[in-house]
Amino acid sequence: MKPAIPQIDKLSHSLTLWYKANQRPLPWRMDRDPYRVWISEVMLQQTTVAAVIPYYERFLKNFPTIKALAKSPLENVLESWAGLGYYSRARNLHKSAIQLAASGFPKTAAELLELPGFGPYTSRAVSSIAFGESVGVLDGNVIRVLSRVFGLALPWWNSKERQTLQDLADKLAQANDSYFVNQGLMELGATICTPQSPTCLLCPWNQSCVARDKNLIANLPTKKPRKEFEVWVWQPEIYLSGDLIGLQKNDYTPFLKGQMLFPGQIKKSSRKPKTYDLKHGITHHDIYIQLKAPIKSKSRKKDFTWIKRQDLKKINPSNLLQKVLAKIDTF
Ligand code: ADE
Repeated sequence: MKPAIPQIDKLSHSLTLWYKANQRPLPWRMDRDPYRVWISEVMLQQTTVAAVIPYYERFLKNFPTIKALAKSPLENVLESWAGLGYYSRARNLHKSAIQLAASGFPKTAAELLELPGFGPYTSRAVSSIAFGESVGVLDGNVIRVLSRVFGLALPWWNSKERQTLQDLADKLAQANDSYFVNQGLMELGATICTPQSPTCLLCPWNQSCVARDKNLIANLPTKKPRKEFEVWVWQPEIYLSGDLIGLQKNDYTPFLKGQMLFPGQIKKSSRKPKTYDLKHGITHHDIYIQLKAPIKSKSRKKDFTWIKRQDLKKINPSNLLQKVLAKIDTF
């Protein structure tokens, strides 16, 4: 059964007025330049507004235009991204910048979706904020706000239920200027309708909110079941030749897939090993690292890429590699 949709027009209108009066003056809200909107939206998927601001400002200083980003070596882009995590996003930014610099910025979410790294959220955020396309956005904040105002206890991580929420976001965006509605939804989620202790007294939707009316705020949105932590025991092999380190494109560990990494062996385990030299966490992987003395050789195996130690961070910025080498230095 489809949920009843109370007063979409009224909600969209009151949200727009509230956003115009209450929006925070954030650096990416100074104009509607698609490049700047795009960079901010990708960064904001990683972390909070407060954490993003210094990265955003530095990134735009280093790469002020799409052309500058497209022309820059990938290593410099990764360096500017270091600290934000999920380096695949920085790689995709660079790939898309090359395409956009050559063929211009498309104005619709459907076209943007074709570009590397543009998922449904980024495509819709950029097309609505930069170009005013009437499409709704759905991120964690918006899922929370919509689940509460409409009183929907949905398993929103499944595609069918997600689509129900997407349809509601679309209807709200279509009822007014999507630029204000979408940013208003995100702003409401970030500043008022927070996960814990929302400030309902200040909410423009407090009179319509089903969760508030039925005392369901703490239960909505439905909690996604946690991904189980996995324990992995990794035995990397550190090949050294002079000041060079041997790396291979990683096709054997479940973390840092496709990135340059030390060769070695890995096994999944049901518990942490009795002995290990280091522990490192990447998403839901608990990695226990067992090290052997480095393998020093004069001849350089051909199936390795040999990298200078000081360049390692540019090739693979994950802290894991630095940690392993620092420990190896003590052997
Ligand atoms: N989170 C995602 N997009 C945002 C935006 N444009 N402003 C503030 N927070 C956001």
